[in-house]
Amino acid sequence: MSNSFKTFLKHTAKDFHNQSVNPPIVRASTIIFKSMQDIRKTQDKAKKNPVGGHFDYGRQGTSTTHILQQILSKLEESYFTFLTPTGFGSVFLAIFSVTRPGDEIIVADPVYSPTRLLSQDFLKEFNIKTTFYDPHDLKTLEKAITKKTKLIFVENPGSNTFDFQDIGKIISIAKKNKILTAIDNTWGTPYFLKPIKLGFDMSIVSATKYYSGHSDVMGGSLAVNKKVFARVKAAERVTGLRLGPDDAYLITRGLRTLDVRLDRHRENAKKVAEFLSKFKNIKLLYPYKKDSYNFRMWKKYYSGASGLMGLKIKAKSEKAVVKFVNNLKLFGHGYSWGGFESLALHQNVREQGNRSYLKLAKNEHIVRLHIGLEDPSDLIADIKQSLKHLK
Ligand SMILES: Cc1ncc(COP(=O)(O)O)c(C=O)c1O
Repeated sequence: MSNSFKTFLKHTAKDFHNQSVNPPIVRASTIIFKSMQDIRKTQDKAKKNPVGGHFDYGRQGTSTTHILQQILSKLEESYFTFLTPTGFGSVFLAIFSVTRPGDEIIVADPVYSPTRLLSQDFLKEFNIKTTFYDPHDLKTLEKAITKKTKLIFVENPGSNTFDFQDIGKIISIAKKNKILTAIDNTWGTPYFLKPIKLGFDMSIVSATKYYSGHSDVMGGSLAVNKKVFARVKAAERVTGLRLGPDDAYLITRGLRTLDVRLDRHRENAKKVAEFLSKFKNIKLLYPYKKDSYNFRMWKKYYSGASGLMGLKIKAKSEKAVVKFVNNLKLFGHGYSWGGFESLALHQNVREQGNRSYLKLAKNEHIVRLHIGLEDPSDLIADIKQSLKHLK
């Protein structure tokens, strides 16, 4: 990332009209005009330039959401960025925009479990078939392609097990077979990985996580290239998915410090990973050990790593692992992540999703840690005192 983008994040969205360094929160259902001619003029402008922020009804947005869309499109290097009330709303919008009954989609096995439920259960009822591929064996992806395949849905790295995939290869397989691609890029955000530039058609980020950074707002973004823009726009129109201006403002505010926070999450996570890498009963699910496939795939595509990691722990019982998690004092126990604070969760089968390719031995358990912005030596000391419960 160039310095100029970091500077852009600090200097954008000023409101010289009201003499505020931040943009106003414009709340509106009715967008008011002085005359019918003005309404028609705006509608004509919107037709000619559908990404230009010309609105005639509140559901389309206001200047507050438009500012956020412009910032994110610059960060994503995308043609346009749609906003949704949650990150999962963006997952839904991406799939809903480009699939119809009779189609097939191919989805990464370790996707976020609600994405798995949406594709394997819900879409089935609409006669859309899903096949899951092994993130580390793309032959399973190639084998799943049929004439009906419309979309390859990637999440990189995979949820909970943090499998890094050869995403460049996935794009070339998709292009060769004229299949659209979407990626859930919530872990890395476009600060560390730019999917649209790499060749993905759609890129999803849960803004709930690092974009907002303060665990107090939900939102999602779906960045798209020009090829799929009209289809997503048409789907957005009929779903009514809209991010409110107050939430858009909080996300814009969070973005001001995205680079600073992510750089710090990365440094802290690296220190914690270094400490944990010394334990034989713990396998790091994080791009730290240079000899691993995951590390190579991360290095090939990413410019940095965020603060979310998994630990595959060998322990005599699940009870011991839960005790280790419970006795962490500085790590809260809760589901979201990407905020300023550290979090720890034991991942059971429900959270892992009903995977086709995950093989865990009876004595292997997965714990997810979000490494926050605390002093890393305090976090390491906390983990150290709780590790005794694994013995
Ligand atoms: C990888 C990933 N994608 C999407 C989502 C959904 O985001 P939201 O909670 O904003 O709906 C989550 C939430 O945890 C996630 O971890």
